[in-house]
Amino acid sequence: MTTLTGISDFHYGLQKIFPEAEDFLPLLGTDYVELYVGNAKQAAHYYQSAFGFQTLAYAGLETGLRDRTSYVLQQGKIRLVLTSALHSNSPIAEHQSKHGDAVKVIALWVDDAREAFRQTVARGATPYLEPSVEQDAFGEVLRSGIHTYGETVHIFVERKNYQGVFLPGYEKWVSDYNPPVTGLQYIDHMVGNVGWGEMNTWAKFYAEVMGFANLISFDDKDISTEYSALMSKVMTNGNGRIKFPINEPAKGLKKSQIEEFIEFFEGPGCQHIAVATNDIVFTIQDMRQRGVEFLHVPGTYYDTVRDRVGIIDEDLEQLKSLGIMVDRDDEGYLLQIFTRPVEDRPTMFFEIIQRKGAKSFGKGNFQALFESIEAEQARRGTL
Ligand code: FE2
Repeated sequence: MTTLTGISDFHYGLQKIFPEAEDFLPLLGTDYVELYVGNAKQAAHYYQSAFGFQTLAYAGLETGLRDRTSYVLQQGKIRLVLTSALHSNSPIAEHQSKHGDAVKVIALWVDDAREAFRQTVARGATPYLEPSVEQDAFGEVLRSGIHTYGETVHIFVERKNYQGVFLPGYEKWVSDYNPPVTGLQYIDHMVGNVGWGEMNTWAKFYAEVMGFANLISFDDKDISTEYSALMSKVMTNGNGRIKFPINEPAKGLKKSQIEEFIEFFEGPGCQHIAVATNDIVFTIQDMRQRGVEFLHVPGTYYDTVRDRVGIIDEDLEQLKSLGIMVDRDDEGYLLQIFTRPVEDRPTMFFEIIQRKGAKSFGKGNFQALFESIEAEQARRGTL
């Protein structure tokens, strides 16, 4: 089981690797991601069985809640909270009815949640949760929150005075059903899809309100087909632990997949959660056996990989058979694969990523992802 202090040694360490970022908060890592879903009990079973998440904590009627149930799962440093409403008259039910199963909270781990709230609101953020202290026998947690794109929110979590399993009000969740992990380690990045002309607004929000830097940008000439296109700016905090790419649709002959997302999501929202592994070949073999569906990569993609990426440790034929893509930036390479949407609407999906030196993103994989989604979009009749 991961200890909370264990988070401090993951990924790039605490040093500032993107000096352009102001990093005034600073953010120590992703604390948890909360999804509002139609049936948290069944969703938890899916993420246990298919993704190898482990049971961590529970809150519901038995713990004194009257309006909702939350199951908390953990794998590596990733904590996933799955929450469902217990009645129709509930903001959680309304959120789920409008957006489908969706990310509501991207919670960020800070040393001082009161100060994070004060600073971000002073810089223009809209308050969501005034700083509030929650206590139980294991100590106290201070949380505060601000709004971001669509109905998504950031909650700042200060937990240095807390020894409990997750948050006050949750009890340890012990289950007889414990499928093994698949090797997922931490959240690498989370992508927001926003509407026409809104990418710069939200890139500016992360720069001005959160002190982030622009790591890399992709325009509609980088990422397009003969039919459609998108634009993207990747925003990062100073220590590189938090990366939020922001996508917006770009004009083409047919409908952009970002537009398709926004139509079915009924607004801007989180498009994908990228989770890192140290052994992507093992992880993907395992997840495929557990029934996770991945996007199809065109076989021709692999014809040019060696020219683009050069020498890699992995067997290219094995990567091809598993559908794992490989790309590079100027510091190293990265391996990536994308699931199909994990619910009925063509909205949220997951990415599995392994970084081998690369701290950024490559254009080749982004383009291949775009083409794969467009192929599925055409089959859905929504291109
Ligand atoms: Fe991604």
